[in-house]
Amino acid sequence: MAFKVGLLGLGTVGAGTAEILLNPAQRHPLLQEIELYRIGVRSLDKPRAVKLPPDLLLTTDLDAIVTDPNIDVVVEVIGGLEPARSLMLKAIAHGKHVVTANKAAIARFGDEIFTAANEAGVYVLLEAAVAGGIPVIEPLKQSLCANRIQMIMGIVNGTTNYILSRMQMEGSSFESVLADAQALGYAEADPTADVDGLDAADKIAILASLAFGGRIKLAEVHCEGIRQVSAADIAYAEKLGFVIKLLATAKRDSQIAHEDSGLAQLQVRVHPTLVPKIHPLASVNGVFNAILIEGDPVGQVMFYGPGAGAGPTASAIVSDILNIAAILKVGRGSNMGRSSNVAQGNNVQADGKPLLDPLLACSHQDYCTIAPISDLVTRFYARVLTHDHPGVIGKLGTCFGSHNVSLESIVQIGLRNDRAEIVVITHHVREGNFRAALEEIRSFESVTVPSVLRVV
Ligand code: HSE
Repeated sequence: MAFKVGLLGLGTVGAGTAEILLNPAQRHPLLQEIELYRIGVRSLDKPRAVKLPPDLLLTTDLDAIVTDPNIDVVVEVIGGLEPARSLMLKAIAHGKHVVTANKAAIARFGDEIFTAANEAGVYVLLEAAVAGGIPVIEPLKQSLCANRIQMIMGIVNGTTNYILSRMQMEGSSFESVLADAQALGYAEADPTADVDGLDAADKIAILASLAFGGRIKLAEVHCEGIRQVSAADIAYAEKLGFVIKLLATAKRDSQIAHEDSGLAQLQVRVHPTLVPKIHPLASVNGVFNAILIEGDPVGQVMFYGPGAGAGPTASAIVSDILNIAAILKVGRGSNMGRSSNVAQGNNVQADGKPLLDPLLACSHQDYCTIAPISDLVTRFYARVLTHDHPGVIGKLGTCFGSHNVSLESIVQIGLRNDRAEIVVITHHVREGNFRAALEEIRSFESVTVPSVLRVV
């Protein structure tokens, strides 16, 4: 055993990771050279989902792990922002490579963490942070690196996909499916991060950064969740040939590079979306995740699989550990030692800074420019309720037209609570224009607009 791992956290994902590290048989032979050396936990008394060898050191002193001179790689699976951020920074400062599943910390503190890692000459790998067991980070960094990425569009949150899939199948309301999902353990007691789109926003910020080669300010990612998606909208969408999905999208907005940074302007957004039933993402149901990537010249590539859970997430974490172990093994011959030795061996640049594999390390310096959502050009679905008077549809059409919003269809579906229910689908229009038209429509007497959704 030459390569030592310090594991921070022994919850679901930590236990899954320990399980793989302790049972290397029939997996990659390099696993036999990796030792689960110490585990940091909050409480020593908790029952664990994995059987640990009696000599394995469990400690509540997390600092002792990130500063332990014997440890090569720190695996952070405690989650949350703090102390995860500080522990990762401290591990880096002590010359340790870091593997993390923590999308929230990376999406917020990625600049600080990667700057520190590059200075220290260590890797911070995060395959598990986005879409659990689906390999997408490494494909973006390596397998697809010859491409100019044009778009990433994904279902990256299993909880919301489960809720929307059940609403679709059962015709149920958001509230009743959420309550049931919580009772079944598919949704958290506090579902905010999932149902309000925040978890998906963290993930698309990370993917966009890798795909478009720049840092992303999370606050600039437009984010809407699924609370406002109603059973009525799902039913109408179905009749029109769509399903409703929470999509996370990052797209090159313009071929023209941003003047200062040379980076393209991007759209980065999360919102419920009407997806045509024939679209590759439309049939991704339940807790599954999928990410569609469009690159030049590869075209469209889709990754599908389990986006969470002990086994899938641990699969991603251990692949990152193995990647680091493989690099260290090659860099040092068969005599693997401590990671801080990288800086003292052959792998240094002329200026003495440690040299990292450019396909695995993250060296972005500049921030991408993200276009405001009002500049988005997309199709819209809107459901309007109004008195059933002659000329109402004409008035709506005229108002949209006066704001340069071209309609693909406008149909009175029927009556809901004695009011006419009208569903509008637009052509591709500028969001700012569409919103201005809606504001005017909302000011009409006895008109309400209960739903507005974007359409792929
Ligand atoms: N809460 C996430 C989801 C899983 O529902 O997909 C972890 O990223």
